[in-house]
Amino acid sequence: MASPGFSAPGGVAVVGSGLIGRSWAMLFASAGFRVKLFDIESRQVTDALVSLRKEMKMLELSGYLKGQLGAEEQLSLISGCSDLREAVEGALHVQECVPENLELKRKLFAQLDKIADDHVVLSSSSSCLLPSKLFAGLAHVKQCLVAHPVNPPYYVPLVELVPHPETAPATVDRTYALMRRVGQSPVRLLREVDGFALNRLQYAVIAEAWRLVEEGVVSPGDLDLVMSDGLGLRYAFIGPLETMHLNAEGMLSYCDRYSEGMKRVLKTFGPVPEFSGATAEKVHQNYWEHRAPTPGPSSDLPLPEEVSGCLLPLKTVLKTTGYSLTRNQNGAAEFTHRELVTASGPRGDPQTIVLMKGPGATTGDLDTRLGRTRVHVYLASALSHAGRII
Ligand SMILES: NC(=O)c1ccc[n+]([C@@H]2O[C@H](COP(=O)([O-])OP(=O)(O)OC[C@H]3O[C@@H](n4cnc5c(N)ncnc54)[C@H](O)[C@@H]3O)[C@@H](O)[C@H]2O)c1
Repeated sequence: MASPGFSAPGGVAVVGSGLIGRSWAMLFASAGFRVKLFDIESRQVTDALVSLRKEMKMLELSGYLKGQLGAEEQLSLISGCSDLREAVEGALHVQECVPENLELKRKLFAQLDKIADDHVVLSSSSSCLLPSKLFAGLAHVKQCLVAHPVNPPYYVPLVELVPHPETAPATVDRTYALMRRVGQSPVRLLREVDGFALNRLQYAVIAEAWRLVEEGVVSPGDLDLVMSDGLGLRYAFIGPLETMHLNAEGMLSYCDRYSEGMKRVLKTFGPVPEFSGATAEKVHQNYWEHRAPTPGPSSDLPLPEEVSGCLLPLKTVLKTTGYSLTRNQNGAAEFTHRELVTASGPRGDPQTIVLMKGPGATTGDLDTRLGRTRVHVYLASALSHAGRII
């Protein structure tokens, strides 16, 4: 095994040891960086260290641990810390991962501002808070930016780098280089914009999906197929602009041929949906029924302790838990437990699943409830088509 070559001097401080903080800690350690993990709740740090150990050992066993170092070596780079100043001291990069609350984050950055030297980068994982609000008035504003990961960051490489108007270009450059070094795929936003880039694209798609269902043009299930068996396959490999370029003899030719048609269709798009009422009920019903658990002994479904709470590649989970994965006649993924229960999953080939006991699972992901156990499934049908299931 290679030795942790560039772990010193100057490690990384991760502030907030919840879901995202843990994932960042794993990523930084995978590239040999020393990581100090701080949380306002000391219990959270203790739990994080236990769960990171479990997760990284499982990943190593199944051959999915990132980086050149073994799990023990990576784990030895991560330490808990009960003092913010101590966590940040000597760090080259601070990755803030506290809950998405402007006041809370502003207070924390004011604290960091007081203890930061003139070299450390102060980076927020915020999903949607604008840097101009987060970092307003800080003495070290030139060293601040948002580095927004996509959940789960250990498996999804994109990181959006969003500067404050006063962020120094060198801060963005350094963070860009750091993200590349830990195996992520950073993109630079040249100025801040509400929703950053990923959520603006996502919301545009969601809004039109909603309108098509609301106006009775297509059913919720078929609407999702348009993405999972159509557009999504393409967009997993190339973006919308490259798609335009390749769909004709180059971009200019595409615009020449299709711009009138695109503008005509775009003018028929309706207003921003309310995202409530009958359409919300209809979509909820559709997916709730589709994924309802089989009644019976599922609430006592045993989950091996070593995978509970871990975020692991699907193959590892299947091997360890006694689940197998098949497709039912509707094309939906189905998890079958060797002893107890069959539960329908969403359509497509899951990429990773997170097994959680009890509440506190991640937000925003598809989930199948198995009694008290939640199985979160990240759909990646397009990736799996390319044999890139992780
Ligand atoms: N969960 C996601 O899907 C996701 C994706 C991308 C970005 N993010 C962003 O990452 C950030 C963290 O999200 P999460 O899901 O990990 O939250 P989380 O609730 O899982 O973890 C937050 C942690 O911060 C700790 N904390 C609270 N106040 C603190 C303080 N003052 N100092 C130190 N620690 C403190 C909490 O004890 C908790 O352990 C948020 O800004 C969120 O928007 C989340």
